[in-house]
Amino acid sequence: MVQCRICGGPVEEFIDFGRQPVSDSLVTPEAAGSEFFFRLAAGVCTECTMVQLIEEVPREKMFHEDYPYRSAGSVVMREHFEKYSNQLLGSELTGDAPFVVEIGSNDGTMLKTIGRAGVRHLGVDPSAQVAEFAKEQGVRVRTDFFQEASAREIAEADGPADVIFSANTVSHIAYIGSVFRGVDALLGPDGIFVIEDRYLGSIIAQNAFDQIYDEHFYLFSVTSVQAMARRYGFELADVQPLSVHGGSMRYTIARPGRRTVSAAVTEHVEHEREAGLARTETYHRFAEHARDSCRDLVRLLTELREQGRSVVGYGATAKSATVLNHCGIGPDLVPFICDNTPAKHGRLAPGAHIPVRPSEEFSRPYPDYALLLAWNHAEEIMAKEREFRAAGGKWILYVPDVHLV
Ligand code: SAH
Ligand code: TMP
Ligand code: ZN
Repeated sequence: MVQCRICGGPVEEFIDFGRQPVSDSLVTPEAAGSEFFFRLAAGVCTECTMVQLIEEVPREKMFHEDYPYRSAGSVVMREHFEKYSNQLLGSELTGDAPFVVEIGSNDGTMLKTIGRAGVRHLGVDPSAQVAEFAKEQGVRVRTDFFQEASAREIAEADGPADVIFSANTVSHIAYIGSVFRGVDALLGPDGIFVIEDRYLGSIIAQNAFDQIYDEHFYLFSVTSVQAMARRYGFELADVQPLSVHGGSMRYTIARPGRRTVSAAVTEHVEHEREAGLARTETYHRFAEHARDSCRDLVRLLTELREQGRSVVGYGATAKSATVLNHCGIGPDLVPFICDNTPAKHGRLAPGAHIPVRPSEEFSRPYPDYALLLAWNHAEEIMAKEREFRAAGGKWILYVPDVHLV
């Protein structure tokens, strides 16, 4: 049995998606077939409850020069980060010469607001292209992996930090002990380490099985993050549910005894116990639902093809790699995927080899059906593309189950 990467306890495997390519490695047509594959399977630690992948993909295969994801692709996410930056500017960052570090600063969407307010900051991100983009926006970036060694250097040069912020990144880092040791070296005595991530409770409740992919090495819950914080000498002081990405959670972590622990922490731990997040049966049931969704989706797409209906994919998300590859959905069922990320255009979805085209092509002409692979941005996308439904088009969703909108 695999050992938990955090507490060393036994990890019980509950889902196996088989051979999967690196999810964000959209390939050029010439490079199709050269993708790096691994076994995508997840399990739950029966001691600390942390949900984690069974196999780790080497980090250089995921985060590099060519990493295409950009936070700014969603207006909702831009506004979300702007709002939290302003909140921090008015609360944690009002002292003398405050300093903020962001782990996984990507294209600078979060730090832009902080930099414009004249507050000292540093983004850390290993993916060179997105880091360059952030620098062009006036954001200070160290193109590097955040880990103990880099954090010590930052502490030496610029520290201590009042806030270390990280959205949708800490869960991507299998070697999380090194991150916490780095935070310990860099964070001031009263500083906070704030993590935002997809919330396991929402993933289970919505049967969002495609949130399992290479980059999401861990799926966090309040219970597992509390145990993790303790293990590395910190305390989970507050949690706040967020609506972004189909249900997320903001975890505020501090040094023990420095902040009052809010009632929300205990309430969520209790909720999670009631929701069965500590029981392995919950995960086995989730895996069964995932199999049902995949079967129903393939059945629907096959029927539509037989009826001569046109189908287009919407959003060449990393999570779509799990669905497309596991269900064996290729260009015969979904001829192309629309996406607003320039770096993805002209490429093929990894493994499935479905071409990715600019969003403008969605309406030339509208298809009969659109498979919403970016379902976590459903509200934003459906509002933007309202003409599609007005013209008689239908969205296909597979979360929480296969249905048409
Ligand atoms: N924070 C942004 C981006 C999330 S994508 C948002 O929420 O939209 C994840 C980012 O983490 C990528 O840009 C990737 O390059 C970066 N990343 C991966 N491992 C990292 C590490 N060890 N340290 C810092 N950044 C890392
Ligand atoms: P994410 O689910 O990892 O945030 O990825 C969302 C993907 O969907 C990303 O490739 C950008 C794309 N997208 C669009 O094409 N149009 C949109 O309106 C939004 C919000 C996202
Ligand atoms: Zn564990």
